[in-house]
Amino acid sequence: MRQFDIITHCVEYNNLEELEEADRLLLEQAIRAGMDAYAPYSQYYVGAAVRLSGGSVCTGNNQENVAYPSGLCAERVALFAASALYPGVPVESLAIAGRALHFAITEPVTPCGACRQVIAEYEQLHARPVRLIMMGEKSRIWTVDSIRHLLPLMFAADQLRKHL
Ligand code: THU
Repeated sequence: MRQFDIITHCVEYNNLEELEEADRLLLEQAIRAGMDAYAPYSQYYVGAAVRLSGGSVCTGNNQENVAYPSGLCAERVALFAASALYPGVPVESLAIAGRALHFAITEPVTPCGACRQVIAEYEQLHARPVRLIMMGEKSRIWTVDSIRHLLPLMFAADQLRKHL
């Protein structure tokens, strides 16, 4: 038998001012998008902003439903809108910001497992890493250069192919 460790890498920034301008502008759009989230059940408002190669930006926010599983996270709303409006255009970056009604979110909001899998899909489709920029309400900011850092050992398309 053999044991091995998997190392992931995340960069932490203290505030928006420390970010590169492109990241800061995208995160500001995510923060703004979160203000329009439809989240009456959780009262947890998430905004996401996707920047595509070429500079177009699509935003999204969480959309909840009285039948809870019918709702969708901000990240997937933004990514699916981007893919629908700009089919075939690679995703460069995705910014995520969260705010809650009854408490301060003091850690960056990180995407759920299903959203990680969706981000991985676009990363593989375009063979380009997706940069993630994540923030809470009163929190530091974390960035990763690829979804691989949040989803190690991911199920990838090449595993579907038969190797004869
Ligand atoms: N949510 C997101 O939109 N993105 C995340 O990364 C975490 C969770 C939403 C789903 C649900 O509407 C609410 O936040 C509480 O889980």
